[in-house]
Amino acid sequence: MTQKKNSRDRAVFATRFGAIATTVGSAVGLGNIWRFPYEAGIHGGGAFLICYMAFVFLIGIPVICAEFCMGRQTRSNIFGAYRKLRPGSPWYLAGYIGILASILILSFYSVVAGWTVEYCLTSAFGQLDFTDTATGHRQFMEMTTGWRPVVWTVVFLLCNFIILIGGVTKGIERASNILMPLLFLLLVSFCINSFTMPGFYEGLSFLFSPDFSKITPSVLLGALGQAFFSLSIGLGCMMTYASYFNNNSRLGKTAMTTALLDSMVAVLAGIIIFPAVFSFGLSPEAGPTLVFEVLPYIFSQLPAGVIWSTLFFLLLFLASLTSTVSMSEISITYFCEEKKMSRQRATIVSSLLGLAGGLVCALSFGPLSHVTICGQTFFSLFDYLSSNICLPLGGMICCVFVGWFVDKKIIRDQFTDRGKYRFPLLGVLVFCLKWICPIAIFVIFLNSIGLLHL
Ligand code: PHE
Repeated sequence: MTQKKNSRDRAVFATRFGAIATTVGSAVGLGNIWRFPYEAGIHGGGAFLICYMAFVFLIGIPVICAEFCMGRQTRSNIFGAYRKLRPGSPWYLAGYIGILASILILSFYSVVAGWTVEYCLTSAFGQLDFTDTATGHRQFMEMTTGWRPVVWTVVFLLCNFIILIGGVTKGIERASNILMPLLFLLLVSFCINSFTMPGFYEGLSFLFSPDFSKITPSVLLGALGQAFFSLSIGLGCMMTYASYFNNNSRLGKTAMTTALLDSMVAVLAGIIIFPAVFSFGLSPEAGPTLVFEVLPYIFSQLPAGVIWSTLFFLLLFLASLTSTVSMSEISITYFCEEKKMSRQRATIVSSLLGLAGGLVCALSFGPLSHVTICGQTFFSLFDYLSSNICLPLGGMICCVFVGWFVDKKIIRDQFTDRGKYRFPLLGVLVFCLKWICPIAIFVIFLNSIGLLHL
């Protein structure tokens, strides 16, 4: 992150590009490449995609805007932002939802990011075996069950910790400005390769031709959770990043660019995964393991597959790091600014919390797989609670707050950069924040617990 200090001695991004690159860096990660295909796979493909896209545009973009507005206006963490805009009111309690979500997400995310580290190294040493689907499956099971994932989760969390404590965020973000476009190019080439697969049409029609009868309450809730997870919203992450934006960051454009790029990467991932799923006779409903079981076959079809797969997993690992750095920032700024800890101490505390959660999640594929709560392992419970409950709830509170309780002049100033630019969509944005987003989220919640039938 290119940073300089502003008058109040808080770091700010020096350029508009820096602001966009970091928000995209936070948004693009395992959510697009790992979580989107598996969620789409279990929720009927096209039906899920339609709901997901609708939520990104109708709810996601307004929520990003609301978070941006609060963050840059107040230049503080999620608690401080609510408090500064409504002193003495209990709104700041919404911050606890954000902290809880960030720790739950860091926990299970690190396990999957750990798999990418292991795949990257195994592939680099030429030990990924792609001979047939049964070998691929056995290989994946060996990597994810037992104690092995614990090691890789710890390795990943250590990398995250080193970046945060060493203050090399600057370096990783500068590197990601080059590496993320490279990841994008790689995805585009794999996408082109999908055209040559025997299951291309089947895969594409699974993803793009919606069967509306498949839209159930759980598809709606899943798509809503995926939109929030993928855009890194509802937990104060975009708010925290916006608190570092400079005064010419054009919030509306930044929000739009982030949402578009993020959705594009998710759709690309879908175009890569589903044709392969059908070509190799696998089931799209495999769940969290889907992408890791399918990708090696794609690489096995390519000339110099080892190089492609090593590069891909390396880039995916880096994309995960820019996301975990951003989610860790929420609890770090909280401990620093609210609990008055030094940044170093705050980083240690938040990393230890992530480690505790990460260990439990890593073991839920092996020794703790029989421990379930409401029928879910720790891994899937953490994922469900954070993505489908905490994030939409946090987002709903944020919309209601900005739509109803923040002075319109503040919103206008933020979106026009104090009158410097025009922002003709202001009325639409406020209408969405006041009515559409909160009502839609509330209805989806009621629908998913069976209190309302759509
Ligand atoms: N959006 C990130 C991804 O798609 C995950 C994330 C969620 C990051 C919440 C920060 C906060 O991988």
